Amino acid sequence: MIKPETIDKIFDAARIDEVVGDFVNLKKRGVNMLGLCPFHNEKTPSFTVSPAKGIFKCFGCGKGGNAVNFVMEHEHFSYPEALKYLADKYGIEVEEEKPSAEQQEVLDEKESLFNLTAFAQKHFEHTLHETEEGRAIGLTYFKERGFTTESIKKFGLGYSLNSWDDFTSKALKNGYKKELLEKSSLSRSRDHQLYDAFRARVTFPIHNLSGRVLGFGARILTQDKKKPKYINTGESEIYHKSKVLYGLFFAKSAITKADNCYLTEGYTDVISMHQAGIENVIATSGTSLTTDQIKLIRRYTQNVTLLFDGDAAGIKAAFRGVDMILEEGMNVKIVLFPEGEDPDSYARNYRPAEVQAFVEENAHDFIGFKTNLLLEETQNDPIKKAKLIKEVALSISRIPDAIARSLYVKKSSGLLQVEEKLLMAEVNKQRWEKAKGQRHQPQPDEEQSWEKPEETLSDTQLKTGITLDHQERELIRVLLEYHDKQLVFSQENEDGHTEEYSVKVSDFILDDLMDDELSFENHLCQAIFDEMRQARDEGRELNNQYFFNHHDPQISKMVINMLTTPYTLSFQWEEKHQIYVTREDEQLQKNIMEILYAFKLKKLEKIIYENKEKLKEEKEEEGVMELMKNVREMESIKTMLARELSRIVTQ
Ligand code: GTP
Ligand code: MN
Repeated sequence: MIKPETIDKIFDAARIDEVVGDFVNLKKRGVNMLGLCPFHNEKTPSFTVSPAKGIFKCFGCGKGGNAVNFVMEHEHFSYPEALKYLADKYGIEVEEEKPSAEQQEVLDEKESLFNLTAFAQKHFEHTLHETEEGRAIGLTYFKERGFTTESIKKFGLGYSLNSWDDFTSKALKNGYKKELLEKSSLSRSRDHQLYDAFRARVTFPIHNLSGRVLGFGARILTQDKKKPKYINTGESEIYHKSKVLYGLFFAKSAITKADNCYLTEGYTDVISMHQAGIENVIATSGTSLTTDQIKLIRRYTQNVTLLFDGDAAGIKAAFRGVDMILEEGMNVKIVLFPEGEDPDSYARNYRPAEVQAFVEENAHDFIGFKTNLLLEETQNDPIKKAKLIKEVALSISRIPDAIARSLYVKKSSGLLQVEEKLLMAEVNKQRWEKAKGQRHQPQPDEEQSWEKPEETLSDTQLKTGITLDHQERELIRVLLEYHDKQLVFSQENEDGHTEEYSVKVSDFILDDLMDDELSFENHLCQAIFDEMRQARDEGRELNNQYFFNHHDPQISKMVINMLTTPYTLSFQWEEKHQIYVTREDEQLQKNIMEILYAFKLKKLEKIIYENKEKLKEEKEEEGVMELMKNVREMESIKTMLARELSRIVTQ
């Protein structure tokens, strides 16, 4: 458990623009900053960061929150992980309260996996440098491959001894549980005995975007053809093969700087290219490229250059991946290495300046490359050529931008010696077919948390219980947004005069709900309500900024999502503050009454429904009478409330 004082320090230090800026390219726009949303696929930026309010909000997908929420979402961190990450970034010492035995037990599995993986990384690295076998076998191997001591340190390379359970037994001794070791796939079991998964292999740690180790690739050092050359960490809570790219942590700032990313196939390609001074390089680690990985790259650049070794089989396999990149609206170039060379060997055989010149001079745009390559194969065979035209059209059809498509059509039609019109027709046909195919498979809905459609009660909702969520959130929203505004009521006093009196919105809502002893079903709404009430009892005032920085990440996220609209965050609003007095403000009183009554009405409906359900079960005459009386009473209150609500709405 991190001490509350430490948490305060972290919240005070974390600047949203700096925290987000490590992952998203932000541009200043008025008082805010704007970038491409890292949480959904977009081509024009709608991801807004407000340094003044300390929050981010995407008006495309609806995600919003403060700096802690951001790293939690982005890095898939737990709350303590996010706090520690920020503490580390801002040089804040994390003071922890000793966790109770109970807390210790529930300590997040993810956090334990991260801890164990970090422990393993240190262990393998130590074994490489500090044991005789490590130095004689592992280190010698790396040195023979031309890796410098500096690279070996930088990438955290290691060695796992040729022993049954050297690592496993040390991990157990350090308190890591058997189940965890198996989950991490660092240890495997045979006949109930745990043994080291990576034994007699060199290890390449795989980092997440903030530099924590998620898993490993482990390379065999013998020529044993029966064993796999690499063993990788298996899927776990922290390691998802399809979502990681090897080397991205070390490459991300260089990728942004160069506005280009070199994509290779393996661990050793990345390291050798780094040594040649090319740092904007990452690897897929042998698997075919996934959409998640492409999206990861697109956070940093729109430009990808594939580095391939010269064998045709590899290139053809890459074609599919390339079409996926094109589909994301990114630009793809390709560098083909001479026969028998891959980026790793080339970087070893040539000087850094030569490597840099080679990749720059040999980067060809992909469509032209594909056309040329296939053209060589067809050798003017008309049937093969027709197939080729279709192939090229398929790639071009994936490009979302119409202008880019027509430029490629022009260029490729020249190379293919077909009429431009003909190729364009084929491209359009392919686009049409893709669109047709997609209409039958609906895209999964993006989470839309900030503007839920009005909920109406359906039969199924009635059967499964009435949901008050919408009304509860609305009530909390107006409570927070207008808490310090005044409502004016008029009342007839004893001698028949009307008197006006005013009440603060927060007092009005808090008192009204407390008088009726109403509570919230949504525990976050209840928690906010309780805090507001308690603060008032103690004579304190809680403003929205307090909730934006709330230490409960669920509360901050909910409040930020409730209170940010394009208007409240847009720079126009900040600059012309006075003009944008919201509509809602003008008829505030009416709206608040409406929301309050709607909440009560729904609450009542629910109680009535529950009573009717009980009635079905009730066997005793007395109980039935009692319940029926209740229902009748509530029905009449309901009618009254409904009449009042319709009066408010139509007045
Ligand atoms: P070297 O042979 O040492 O140069 O390694 P490399 O990284 O260049 O390997 P290679 O070009 O053969 O393969 C490219 C990438 O594919 C590797 O970095 C691995 O990520 C992956 N890979 C290769 N062989 C295997 C294997 O047997 N199993 C798994 N899971 N991945 C492999
Ligand atoms: Mn290789």
